[in-house]
Amino acid sequence: MLRLNKKILKPCGNVSFSPSVLSADFSCLKKSLHFADKYADWLHVDIMDGHFVPNLSFGPHIVKCVKKASKLPIDVHLMVSYPEDFIIPFYEAGAGLITLHYESKSGTCKYIKKIRSLGAQVGLSIKPNTPVSKIAKYLKLIDLLLIMTVEPGFGGQKFMVNQIPKIRQAREMINESGRKIWLQVDGGINPQTATKSVGAGADSLVMGNAFFSSSNPSKLIRSIKKTFS
Ligand code: DX5
Ligand code: ZN
Repeated sequence: MLRLNKKILKPCGNVSFSPSVLSADFSCLKKSLHFADKYADWLHVDIMDGHFVPNLSFGPHIVKCVKKASKLPIDVHLMVSYPEDFIIPFYEAGAGLITLHYESKSGTCKYIKKIRSLGAQVGLSIKPNTPVSKIAKYLKLIDLLLIMTVEPGFGGQKFMVNQIPKIRQAREMINESGRKIWLQVDGGINPQTATKSVGAGADSLVMGNAFFSSSNPSKLIRSIKKTFS
């Protein structure tokens, strides 16, 4: 019998903040997550298979360790070609929300239903070159839409300003759907690009490098939360 993982919050008008552990210091993980744990809403964990993206990251064992090191709900971002193989292992490792990519091998509907049937929340993501219209039909099935603001695969890249109109369009589509769906942005988010993204309609910010390399992460996260509350 699978246990239900801690659910994430539903959108309620506030902007949520999700540090990406790809940029955390794994030699002292608990310490590195201290400020995230204190002030953030979720922890974002990037799963890369070396095929869908040209990089490798974490397996389920690491997600279990992250879960032990933090009290935050875990938002798993699956950048893999074959999500089917990974949904249950990452759910069992502690993911409360699992986001898959529209561009992964076909079966989006099936994967969404699988994640839902386990009791986790469901996210769907698109890469910078995928038009937002492609995912319109899935809006009725998901809890979170992730617009990538860099080509997925690596932390520390530059925010792609040309994704702003897409964020705006996604916000309009979500509003028209009448459903409460988080609009998440991921890639190159810092206080400046966060302001641009939230201005275009995003309400969930993933931040890797800017947060974990900050000399004052506590101040950074508090000022971001204050700006957007
Ligand atoms: C990129 C990942 C991101 C990454 C963000 O493929 O999906 O979550 O960790 O890192 P920054 O904020 O450094 O761009
Ligand atoms: Zn990510």
